[in-house]
Amino acid sequence: MRLLLLLLLTFPAFAAPIEIPIETNRTALVIRVDNEGHLTIVHHGKRLQQATEYARLPGNARLYEGYSEFYSSAYTPAGSRNLLEPAIQATHADGNPSLDLMYVRHETKPTGPGITRTDILLKDPQYPFEVTLHYKAYQKEDVLEGWSTIRHTEKKAVTLQKFASANLYLSANHYYLTHYHGIHAGEVRPEETQLTGGMKVLDSKLGTRAQMFQAPMFMLSLNQPAQEEQGEVLAGTLAWSGNFQFQFELDPQHNLRLLAGMNPYASAYTLEPGRDFTTPALIYTFSTQGMGGASRSLHRWARNHRIPNGNGDRLTLLNNWEATYFGFDEPKLVELFKDGRKLGVDLFLLDDGWFGNKFPRNNDRAGLGDWQENRAKLPHGLGYLVKEAEGAGIKFGIWIEPEMVNPKSELYTQHPDWVIKLPNRPDAVFRNQQVLDLSNPKVQDFVYGVVDDLFTKNPTLGFIKWDCNAVIYNAYSATNPANHLYVDYGRGLYRVLERLRAKYPTVPMMLCSGGGARVDYGALQYFTEYWPSDNTNPTERTFIQYNYSSFFPAIASCNHVTNSGSAPIKFRTDVAMMGKLGYDIVVSRMPANDLAFSQEALKTYARLKPVIYQGDLFRLQSPHTHDVMSVLYVSDKQDKAVWFSYLISDRFKAGADQPPIRLRGLDPAKRYTVQETNLMPGSKSPIDPTVVYSGDFLMSVGLDPVVGGGRTSVVLEVTAVGQ
Ligand code: DGJ
Repeated sequence: MRLLLLLLLTFPAFAAPIEIPIETNRTALVIRVDNEGHLTIVHHGKRLQQATEYARLPGNARLYEGYSEFYSSAYTPAGSRNLLEPAIQATHADGNPSLDLMYVRHETKPTGPGITRTDILLKDPQYPFEVTLHYKAYQKEDVLEGWSTIRHTEKKAVTLQKFASANLYLSANHYYLTHYHGIHAGEVRPEETQLTGGMKVLDSKLGTRAQMFQAPMFMLSLNQPAQEEQGEVLAGTLAWSGNFQFQFELDPQHNLRLLAGMNPYASAYTLEPGRDFTTPALIYTFSTQGMGGASRSLHRWARNHRIPNGNGDRLTLLNNWEATYFGFDEPKLVELFKDGRKLGVDLFLLDDGWFGNKFPRNNDRAGLGDWQENRAKLPHGLGYLVKEAEGAGIKFGIWIEPEMVNPKSELYTQHPDWVIKLPNRPDAVFRNQQVLDLSNPKVQDFVYGVVDDLFTKNPTLGFIKWDCNAVIYNAYSATNPANHLYVDYGRGLYRVLERLRAKYPTVPMMLCSGGGARVDYGALQYFTEYWPSDNTNPTERTFIQYNYSSFFPAIASCNHVTNSGSAPIKFRTDVAMMGKLGYDIVVSRMPANDLAFSQEALKTYARLKPVIYQGDLFRLQSPHTHDVMSVLYVSDKQDKAVWFSYLISDRFKAGADQPPIRLRGLDPAKRYTVQETNLMPGSKSPIDPTVVYSGDFLMSVGLDPVVGGGRTSVVLEVTAVGQ
């Protein structure tokens, strides 16, 4: 009797359903607590004008079976009556493999200007086991962050077999999923598929990084294939740099269940009593303006709330990777500093190959892990290089890959126990290297120390490029339960980055992973920018940069002008200007005209970059579907726009015969001039800069940027007049 009373107090029978709306300025996710305390999703889409009408949402009325609450569950438990894919699966301390999660309470409170956080506490009626669902709502940006915290006070440890970050539920006639797959130098290639009954799974099991085969992001279009500027689209990406899993389950009612989180593969987690297990967040936005609207929301959110210095500036740089690879020495570098200065960039970035003595890093087969300057190449050490660069008038930055080790290194010899490898199995290498076990606190200290040491010895070091070239093979930790390795590796990495950012909050850092294998919003809370791909061929780059732009803002995309491909310098520069401009080229070998153009281009870029970095992106024509790709960045005040167009394919002289391209995002009532910029020295533009157009005209009729065989890329400045 006493037990029954206790249960009633803890899990009261609800007089009426409770609606928990999680709103942004334009969208709402509405969760309903039914009379029995089950939590279901009853709406995910446009915010209703009258909040009282959320009570009228029909919910899952079509269902007659006894398990109806599971279809639309806001966090589906496993093991009892649930017949669908669970969000959480746990085995209790007494061996009982089932969970029941009932509503206890919730609260919504502001956590910053324009941000609210809703926490919903759920408990198992039979076990001291609870889950808190967290939803952070960014009002202006229309972005939600969803994650969960799992804890218990059972007598012994509980095993978590699955632990999703978010469990969503959508209702439409048809569902079209765009996902992004690829490989080194061919990252994030989109593919769209219509979802059919059953389950579609996107996941990765790479350990150190989320992507290579699949990127941790998706666009889900409701009712029709995804369109650029119209239609309902849910865009989501997991803020986690390790194994991820997205499951899209079309249920028998033709509604879509979406489960997203860390990949539970080989990761059954032993959770001790009184400890929290917190999942990473799914970042998502619901757009009624197609993929373009979703991207703009995510970009604004990233700049305002996620990427360090997201509303600030970035340094242009000269990187030596494609210019020298491992073949450099002190005099050569000092010459390169002068070249960088002559070109007009802010910083010189010294890439791989500067370290290792017993095992010199003269190729990628040795030296990784031995973070001492190579005495043959750099007899006076890094301090000398920093001074020389600063003397030449530019800052100095450096490449590191502190999570990894070559078997041919002093580090490997001294700490074989720090390396991820399996007993009774031969060592396996990826790019001749292995991964240090970042789940081990000693390894975390070592990795932190590599970076801290660089700054302690060289306090004016201006930039870090943090690389990660290997995946985890033979996943096993000698110091940690094997099943925790994947989860604890990611957490260990973030712990190190957290400590570094606490001590060095403002230093710009580039996130790199053998190209773009680690581009995600988990890592990007510590990095000011990312390297999208080792493929720097400018035509292929238009595709890669275009595809990343679905989720990540231009300010974070490091685009370098290189010698890859045969495109003219203007095309290469115009492509790189679409984001954060850099160079990876031998300046001293540039033809005079190319150098003169590049010097001027950097000045032009300095003028345009506030709009490129902070403006709204409108993808006007896709390289996937058009011969001419075209994108436009529009300032917040709609008084300035930068418009890039590129000839992607000129088969049958396609470029010569293009209809006008309609602009977007301008103020129809404003009047604008359109002036070409970034021209080669001595060349004239066919675009008349004296004509004044209304925004209405430019958006309804459009303009031909005159891209063609002789003009393979065009940059236009659209400026409001008569303000
Ligand atoms: C892979 C990166 O993507 C390249 O930019 C370069 O830094 C190399 N690693 C260096 O080994």
